[in-house]
Amino acid sequence: MKFFVDTADTAEIKALAATGLLDGVTTNPSLVAKSGRGMADVIAEICRLVPGPVSAEVAATDTEGMLREARLLAAIAPNVTVKVPMTEAGLAACRALSLQGVMTNVTLCFSAGQALLAAKAGASFVSPFVGRLDDIGADGMGLIAEILEIYRNYPALKTEVLVASVRHPGHVITAARLGAHVATVPPGVLRQLFVHPLTEKGLAVFLADWAKGGQSIG
Ligand code: E4P
Repeated sequence: MKFFVDTADTAEIKALAATGLLDGVTTNPSLVAKSGRGMADVIAEICRLVPGPVSAEVAATDTEGMLREARLLAAIAPNVTVKVPMTEAGLAACRALSLQGVMTNVTLCFSAGQALLAAKAGASFVSPFVGRLDDIGADGMGLIAEILEIYRNYPALKTEVLVASVRHPGHVITAARLGAHVATVPPGVLRQLFVHPLTEKGLAVFLADWAKGGQSIG
């Protein structure tokens, strides 16, 4: 499974990219606004830090406007993935962009029907928001299972399921068990995946025993 990080904070992205475990980045208008930087500036820096797909979202709501913004976003770097909302206008833009060979991410997906339409529109990625579904008492990971089941029935569909709105490591593990292609994870959740109390405890014991032995490796 590919790991994307869901942030526009370039310090966080730089630190996580240094692990070599990062396959891409997703942003959205809220995250870019939170960064306090201009869209072109922040996306260009992220694209330099991470060579994989970097999602940058359009703000227009009509197809023509989205296509105009998409051209500007795609011109920032070859690894920009244009994010469009899951609306009729968004899918028309997605279809046009996919025919032009531009990578796309259909965002704000909350149903299997929407995911099916996104795939038919030629989206490179579809982003079902599992956390926001859980928030309203629906089953976010159940939706991922449903979408993967549908896509597997039609091998010609090339859209990757990008599990979004991830809130905790359990979402990531379930996504991997289901065979989702990608999870986009907030930096804090990604860091939670590294840690286990027994790892810390075990390492402390190893280091203490090693120090008692008085040896040195290098
Ligand atoms: C995905 O691309 C979105 O940016 C993101 O995962 C939304 O997550 P949230 O529900 O935590 O805002």
